[in-house]
Amino acid sequence: MEVRNACACWLVLLFWVAVAATGVRCSKFDDLVQPSWATDHIIYEGELLKLKLDNSSGAGFASKSKYLYGKVTAELKLVEGDSAGTVTAFYMSSDGVTHNEFDFEFLGNRTGEPYLVQTNLYINGLGNREQRMDLWFDPTADFHAYSILWNPRQVVFLVDDTPVRVFSNKEKHGIAFPRDQPMGVYSSIWNADDWATEGGRVKTDWSHAPFLATFRSLRIDGCEWAPSADAAGGAAEVQRCSASEWGKEGRYWWKEKEMEALSLHQSHQLIWARANHMVYDYCNDPGRFPTQPPECGK
Ligand SMILES: *[C@@H]1O[C@H](CO)[C@@H](O)[C@H](O)[C@H]1NC(C)=O
Ligand SMILES: *[C@@H]1O[C@H](CO)[C@@H](O)[C@H](O)[C@H]1NC(C)=O
Repeated sequence: MEVRNACACWLVLLFWVAVAATGVRCSKFDDLVQPSWATDHIIYEGELLKLKLDNSSGAGFASKSKYLYGKVTAELKLVEGDSAGTVTAFYMSSDGVTHNEFDFEFLGNRTGEPYLVQTNLYINGLGNREQRMDLWFDPTADFHAYSILWNPRQVVFLVDDTPVRVFSNKEKHGIAFPRDQPMGVYSSIWNADDWATEGGRVKTDWSHAPFLATFRSLRIDGCEWAPSADAAGGAAEVQRCSASEWGKEGRYWWKEKEMEALSLHQSHQLIWARANHMVYDYCNDPGRFPTQPPECGK
């Protein structure tokens, strides 16, 4: 019996040696995402996926599927050392001119100066909802989890499970909320030294290239949109993914009752994060918005 088990083990091992020898790339990211830009600037290293920016190109990946509602989380370690001028993004987006988009944009900085995290939402093609925070840790020293939760009641941005921003559904007050366009999950790194660091004053120092953003894991829980759903089939997909009863289909946990709003503990975390780490909020920028944007009010 033991001998037979040993044989089975050897066969399994031989199989994987053969797979490795034929050069089949086996990354755990491959199930969910594929390169979307500059394949030669995407590096698979064991459990890790790295996006590389140098003076010839940035890089990006995109999910193979689109989703209506869900929660996505990337474990990400940002560019070490001098990252000034670079932006790494992790975001969800739908397609077209009236698209919706939920963004995490990590704005690089000079060695030792703090990265800023900019969040933004586009709704029906309109953005201009930037908020910026610094972090309570060095995001270049280790991996941290950045998540976006989206259900019919709220969009929540979280950093290591601490909510840092909530966009609530205020359709009752005539404020649009993203509800019917499936979204893909994306990441990219690029040169944005015209605006990213200190408003564009600090430029990318290419002598420090390549700039690498490293992903350790990516998790997508969401209602996967049927790839065949066209404009007509779309209505049925919206219905399926947003069925009115909360948690009707059990596995759609991101729509469960307790996901409708933050818990009391999470509300406290949100207040703490914003009180201590917020550096810019479009809601409080009268120079830009003499009338406060409607979603900012109660
Ligand atoms: C890009 O970087 C490479 C390697 O550092 C260098 O050899 C090359 O001259 C650079 N190209 C440009 C256009 O700056
Ligand atoms: C970069 O560091 C400077 C100096 O600490 C800071 O003012 C700025 O907000 C930081 N972040 C960005 C993206 O400019």
